[in-house]
Amino acid sequence: MEYRTAQLHLETSKLMGVDFIPIGTTPYSQDKQSLLEELCVDHDASCPHCTSATGHTNIVFGTGNPDASLMFIGEAPGMEEDLQGVPFVGAAGKKLDQIIEAMGLCRSDVYIANTLKSRPPDNRTPTSDEVAACGPYLKSQIEIISPSVIVTLGSPASKYILETTTGITRLRGIWGASEGIPVMPTYHPAYLLRNYTTETRSQVWSDMKQVIENLSL
Ligand code: URA
Repeated sequence: MEYRTAQLHLETSKLMGVDFIPIGTTPYSQDKQSLLEELCVDHDASCPHCTSATGHTNIVFGTGNPDASLMFIGEAPGMEEDLQGVPFVGAAGKKLDQIIEAMGLCRSDVYIANTLKSRPPDNRTPTSDEVAACGPYLKSQIEIISPSVIVTLGSPASKYILETTTGITRLRGIWGASEGIPVMPTYHPAYLLRNYTTETRSQVWSDMKQVIENLSL
């Protein structure tokens, strides 16, 4: 999809008489931002899952810095995210904000997206068919942002990105990779809130410390 978008840009430029593209004069983030915007339009018009899903108010595409070196991937929008059209703005989002701050970063430093871009009815876990239909748009988002590290939050995101059926309890804390990008699976902040013990908190923090080290933060 990214390739097709780039091709369209080139064709339009050629029609307008541009026969060369100077490298380094366009701010890269602007480039990524416009590619993300085009992907969002494409997703909203064509995603086999989101165009046929019912019961949601908004499609929640993603938010944050298109130039981020760190990308967080959650499961699917919840009620608050569905109403606002922004990922991780409810209780789990507040916990994620605290985690990001504890890492010495703020929300505008990172990019946040979900595996599924429309809220499943009754907040149920996304089905594998839903993830298979909507997931390729997430893969295109990753391709555009090209982060140095991905953190997957919870089982559905970790299984999809790491192409595994192994559950999060066994995956968390161990580096994986997706298309050459290091992936750190960790517990979903909503799980952390439901199981707020010294053990789960120190597990998530230990996972984030590995990310800090990898990014040399
Ligand atoms: N949980 C998620 O996985 N994503 C959100 O955006 C909010 C809650």
